[in-house]
This record gives sequence, structure tokens and C-alpha cells, in this order.
Amino acid sequence: MCGIVGFVGKEQAAPILLDGLERLEYRGYDSAGIAVVSAKHELQVKKAKGRLKVLSDIIQGGKSVEGTLGIGHTRWATHGEPNDINAHPHLSGDGKVAVVHNGIIENYVELRDFLKGRGYKFCSETDTEVVTQLLAYYYAECGDIFDAVFKVIHRIEGAYALGIICADCPDRFIAARKDAPLLIGYGEGCNFIASDVTAIIKHTRDISYMEDGEVAVITADSVQVYDYMEQPIEKERCFVDWDVSAAEKGGYAHFMLKEIMEQPEAIRKTAFNRIRDNRIILEDLKIDADYIKGISKIFIIACGSSYHVGVVGKYNLERMLRKPVEVCLASEFRYSDPLVDESTLVIVISQSGETLDTMAALREAKSLGAHILSIVNVVGSSIARESDDVLYTWAGPEIAVATTKAYSTQLVLLNMLGLYFGDILGTVSRSEYSAIIDELLRLPAKMEQMLEHTDDIKHFASNYFNHSSVFFIGRNLDYAMGLEGSLKLKEISYIHSEAYASGELKHGTISLIENGTLVIALGTYAPLFDKAMSNVVEVQARGADVLALTTESHAAEMRKTVENVITVPESHTIFQPSLGVVPLQLFAYYVALLRGCDIDKPRNLAKSVTVE
Ligand code: AGP
Repeated sequence: MCGIVGFVGKEQAAPILLDGLERLEYRGYDSAGIAVVSAKHELQVKKAKGRLKVLSDIIQGGKSVEGTLGIGHTRWATHGEPNDINAHPHLSGDGKVAVVHNGIIENYVELRDFLKGRGYKFCSETDTEVVTQLLAYYYAECGDIFDAVFKVIHRIEGAYALGIICADCPDRFIAARKDAPLLIGYGEGCNFIASDVTAIIKHTRDISYMEDGEVAVITADSVQVYDYMEQPIEKERCFVDWDVSAAEKGGYAHFMLKEIMEQPEAIRKTAFNRIRDNRIILEDLKIDADYIKGISKIFIIACGSSYHVGVVGKYNLERMLRKPVEVCLASEFRYSDPLVDESTLVIVISQSGETLDTMAALREAKSLGAHILSIVNVVGSSIARESDDVLYTWAGPEIAVATTKAYSTQLVLLNMLGLYFGDILGTVSRSEYSAIIDELLRLPAKMEQMLEHTDDIKHFASNYFNHSSVFFIGRNLDYAMGLEGSLKLKEISYIHSEAYASGELKHGTISLIENGTLVIALGTYAPLFDKAMSNVVEVQARGADVLALTTESHAAEMRKTVENVITVPESHTIFQPSLGVVPLQLFAYYVALLRGCDIDKPRNLAKSVTVE
């Protein structure tokens, strides 16, 4: 996902912009650039393909660019390949307007033709350059950059977070937002915009989230926000209370390893604050017992790892609630004519709260009358703000592209929601409820116990890091957990893998198992352990090299057949995936490390995918 940062104040802008962009690197990008207006009204644009260091070296860390107002951008290519020309900021042909953009303008071709018909030339393949030239067109026509911005946002269609500077206005920049995140940061004698607070938290914790259709005019001493109809509005200000170190590596080699290690504490913060006297307290929930009793069906909608949380959740919630739970990929839900009505509860899961597919599915479900309850990690994010109810995971900022602590906190919170509903519906007995709460309170410590002993996983990673294809097989909750283990491995080590329901192997895929094929056999779901064992024998008979994952109580049995076994502590069935996923995360991490991959910023990936 692209990253935007903007600054106006008394200090030189370029070093501040570079620092902000560096803190947005985790979002994934392929080029970067800045635009700064000098006191002499010169609009300087510097941009380059590749890592931020390339740009920084070109401008001597910002020293060679003079001016106290500027915008910066890290680009994750959508229209046009990654290169210097397609990089942002884009400059208008007359050199007066520079723009950075996150999102997609859907009618850019039509607008480009309109401008070409009026003599405008284009040098890039991007939709953003069209916005820039359209701004220049209206600015030339009306002579006021503010009016020109409104003419543009009433003309363009699609998603945009825009940072705009004009050479004729060296004391202000303009921001506009629709369907792509953008926030305003209020400093002392300076002000900011940013795609997320990570970019500017070292300067200010005092922020406002821009809403769709809003335009902000920002100077060093003032911020004025307008709604889509150009009416001035007052913005609610929020205080960001997490510390800067949360967005630092803290001595770990990678953010991903740090965040794997943070999982026990993240679960404590997410869960324990919602348990009082062994009862789950969800004060933030608007839905009441009558509504819960009236739920006819639950849809869980998400993408990627958040979807995998939903797959685990389906098994657990259906067991606890005895109501139908359907899990659907957000990108599929939108176009599947879903069976949703006023009695459908839609649970939307998203770490970033900005995933466009998930946001669009949310809006589709809402239009069909569903109640939207979202589980989100980023406070104030778009999905959170468009939901009827939101339960925040308190995992803290997750920087690594490959999610770990957010996945784990989402999963725990979803299980808690199921337990909370089950208690109200009477489908979970008092004794079962207490047993689950007791186990939940022990979960972080069990996870910490595992995280203290990772040498066996490093050893197994050294055995298998050269494999080109891996199968994760499991049944029921093990299958659901395997989906996440497989994605972790694919995402960061670039090894092809797939998770397969063990019982389904014999219906085709087992033909792929041959001598030396690595099969990671997941046997932590106790009720089907014997079945898991027979599937191990099944693949070994075809030459598979099996790495097994099971609980301590089943380890001896598994070792009768499998030499390489990873064990996890016993837990209540619904929490077993929360423990089992940790060694799978670590296995992926150590394999990727041995393969020399860019673990925190895997190729082609973004931390939050705000494009279709
Ligand atoms: C997971 O490691 C990936 N980063 C990706 O699958 C991610 O889970 C997916 O894009 C959904 O993101 P969200 O949770 O922010 O909506």
C-alpha cells in the first residue's frame, strides 16, 4: 500500500519527509519521492525507483532540497511499472502543482483523454498524473488552488488520499481523502498529514482521521477542514497512546520475529482487559441479548490471514453457538449475491482496517441489512469507523507485512465473542464456560513457554529450507491452522506450499506426493488424532518426508511413526490452533532467514492492500 507524509513548519521539510517515509516502508513499496516548495516558490520534485536509500542518497539525506513545506510518498505500483517516471510526486506540466496519491482513480482514462484534447501532455502511465494535470487545468482556469481541488474531487471517481502542494502557495498544502486512509497530525508550530500515525508519531500524538470527501488546508499554524460541499467543519482530535518503541525493532533482527515474540503480551492486552471475575465483558458492544438470540446466521468476511482466523472461528463458533457460520473471502463475497438480511450478523476481520476488498464487502453486507461487527487492530481505521460495532485487538502497531500477533489476537477475540454469545444463548454450559476462561487465562504463559525453546524449529528449518514445495495437512481445526502456516511460509520464503484437508488428499492431490516431498502433518486436534496418524502413514508410503506438529500428550505416539516432531502444550480445543500456529510462524521465519529473503518486506506484498 502506498505511503503518504506531508509537513509544513519552520524546519527544513526534506529530512522530516524522509524520516516519515522510512517509517512507512513496512507497508511495501517500489519507489519513493518528495516534493518541497522553497521560500522562492520553487517546486522541487525528487523521486527514484527502489528503496528509500536511493532517494536519500540523491538528495544527501534531504540537505540538498530547501524548503519548509513538502509532501512525500512511497509507491506500491498499481498503474504503470515501478520506475522513476511513474514514482510520486507527480508534477503538472506547468511546474506549479505536485501531487502524491494513494488509491485508484477509476475514470482516469476518460479524464486523460479530456486533458489531451486540451493540449495536455503526459509522461507517466499513472492515474495520479491525470489528477495532477486536472488540478493544473482547473487552477489555470479559476486561479485558486483550493477551488481547483474541489473541482477535481467532484470529477474523479475511485479511491484517493491526496497530498497537494502548489508553487504559488509556499505556506500551505492541501489534503483530500476518499476510501484511502489519511490523517492530520497537529504539532507545535508545524502540522502534518500521514497515511498512518507511525510516520509522524515522533513529532506528534495529536491527530485527526480524515473522513471520505473531506479536504484539509494546512499551514504551519492552522488546519481547516472542509466537507465535500466545501463547508468548514470541526474535526475530532485523538491522542495516540502507544509509544514510538512499539514501532521499532527493539533489538530483534526483524519486526516479524519481534511481533511473534510479542504475541503473549498482545493476547493479554486484548483478552484480559475484557475479563472480570472470570466473565467476558464486552462493554463496547451495542448488540444486546435479544439481537444475539435473533441471529439466524453469521458471516465472517476477511482476506488473507484474517480470513484464516475466520476459518478457525467457524469451527469454534458453530460448536459453541449451534448457529450456521459461513466464512467468505471478502473479494468473493462482494460478487456472490450473498444471502444476507437483517438477522445476519457479519463479522469483519482486518488488522489494518483499510483492506479495500474487505471494506467493499462490509458496505455490501451493510446495504443488505446486516449488522456489522468488526475485529480490527488499527484504531480509527476506515473499517472500524464504518462498522456498527468494533472490537479492537490491542496488538499494538504491526509492522511486518506477514501478520502474526494481529492474527493471534484476532483469533482469541473471535473465540471470546463466540463464548460470550454462547453464554447468552445458553448453548455453552457454565462449567464449559469456566473451563474455557481458565484456559484462556493460561494461554499467554503456555505461548511464552514455547517461545523460550525455538532451537528445534531452527533445526527443522535448516533441514527443509531448500524444498520447493510443501504440503500442510490436517483435519478440522488443524486444517484451518494449516492455512495460516502455509501462507506464512509462502509469503516470506517464497516456497510454494498449500494447506490441505487430510481426508481430501486421496481425492487427487496425493498424486503430487513423491520421494522427499515435505509434508507438515498437523495433529493437534485431539478428537481426530488417530485419523491424522493414518494420513501420516498414507503420505509416508508415497515417500513423503514428514515434519509433524502435535501436542505433548500425543508426542510419543507420533514419534513411533515420525522422526521429526514439534510439540505444543495441551490446551482447550478452541485454543489449540492459537498455540499450534506459533511454531508454524517460527518455521516460516527461520526458513526465510536461511533463504536470505526480505522478511519484513516480502516482494510484491503490502501490509495493507487498498487496491482491488
Ligand atoms: C498476512 O500475513 C498478509 N499480510 C495478508 O494476507 C493480510 O492478512 C491480508 O491482506 C488482510 O489484511 P488485513 O487483516 O489488514 O485486512
